[in-house]
Amino acid sequence: MANLLITGGAGFIGSHTCLVLLERGHSLVVLDDFSNSHPVALERVASLVGLQGLNAVAPGHWRDPVQGRLSLHRGDIRNPQDLESVLAGIDAVLHFAGLKSVGESVHHPLRYWDVNVSGTRLLLEQMQQHGCRTLVFSSSASIYGTQERVPIPESAPIQPINPYGRTKATVEQLLADLVGSEPGWRVACLRYFNPVGAHASGLIGEDPSGVPNNLFPYISQVASGLRPCLSVYGDDWDTPDGTGVRDYIHVMDLAEGHVAAVEHLISGPDQLLQLNLGSGRGHSVLDLVHAFATVSGRPVPWQVAPRRPGDPAISVADAELAASRLGWRTRRTLEDMCRDGWAWQAANPRGYTDRVRAS
Ligand code: NAD
Ligand code: UFG
Repeated sequence: MANLLITGGAGFIGSHTCLVLLERGHSLVVLDDFSNSHPVALERVASLVGLQGLNAVAPGHWRDPVQGRLSLHRGDIRNPQDLESVLAGIDAVLHFAGLKSVGESVHHPLRYWDVNVSGTRLLLEQMQQHGCRTLVFSSSASIYGTQERVPIPESAPIQPINPYGRTKATVEQLLADLVGSEPGWRVACLRYFNPVGAHASGLIGEDPSGVPNNLFPYISQVASGLRPCLSVYGDDWDTPDGTGVRDYIHVMDLAEGHVAAVEHLISGPDQLLQLNLGSGRGHSVLDLVHAFATVSGRPVPWQVAPRRPGDPAISVADAELAASRLGWRTRRTLEDMCRDGWAWQAANPRGYTDRVRAS
């Protein structure tokens, strides 16, 4: 069993991955500044795996009181002191902390380069100083931009079309340089396609702030009556029903992919892996609308709107390399994603906010 540092572990993908890592018996130290999350997500993770909750042991520092297998630190990856305080005795890092909105990155590129690139560089420096050279990095299919060949293999040209994607591509380049510069590094860059859904308990899930930019949380909020209607961005794409096609991946499948990756790195030789994490299957906007309406039993009104600038018609992963290198494939269907996402939305219509106000 390993001691793992999880940056951004209170966020959407991080919290689900923490759950699966704890179930596998690993011990976790989470570093998060809660700029897009709340500690309550990890309290719920702790209760789901049977830990006795999280106790405050110092300002901004919580720990499960009995087994000591989960500790949570409020801190910023851009602050070397915050990193130093959590890196002692760590075998590997799963690095989720970062900013992720494509639209915001266009308006605030400095913020994105600061957190996603400078923050990661500082983390790598501190890892090097602590002798920890095993890293799983949250990359993104956005590094591929618009591709002619679909499904997209990892060998496709890297040609991001927005600042967010460029920060992820830059970190991948930095990691390749680092792995080539000295022995001992074991790095996996995991290129996520479209993560959606929630843990089947409905206790943890995605909690977007403000108006969701992404399709799945927007549909969830329409189904629950928080928003009147979905705008479908274009029905004249070159796809079977004219709406955009994406490779949606259940967040629990994604979490299991991270566990496979970090355990593979820890037990394997020095290496650099660059792997797509997707299902290899495409679903259109209207496929998702219909599946969500069926599973939830709620209407999802929609209307056609103009295309969103920068959207590709189709984005689907070639998922074979991850299967052969990690022995991992997605297992859950589009219906599973909708059922579990709806369980979360129905039980937490305003995300963690109500629970936070009550606490
Ligand atoms: P999220 O916003 O829910 O989680 C990110 C976490 O990082 C949050 O808890 C946030 O508070 C924390 N954080 C942000 N800046 C920080 C900083 N400076 N120091 C410490 N903590 C900080 O996002 P997510 O959807 O869970 O995404 C996780 C990672 O995966 C991100 O790096 C994102 O770019 C990448 N990714 C996400 C998607 C997606 O569609 N969700 C797709 C591809 C890649
Ligand atoms: N869409 C709508 N209406 C909406 C929102 C989205 O029709 O209100 C459509 C889009 O046009 C697209 C599809 O739904 O065809 C999916 O859009 P999302 O915004 O949910 O996802 P994207 O594929 O645009 O991008 C997401 C993340 C990126 C990440 C990428 C690949 O937002 O950060 O997946 O991982 F890089």
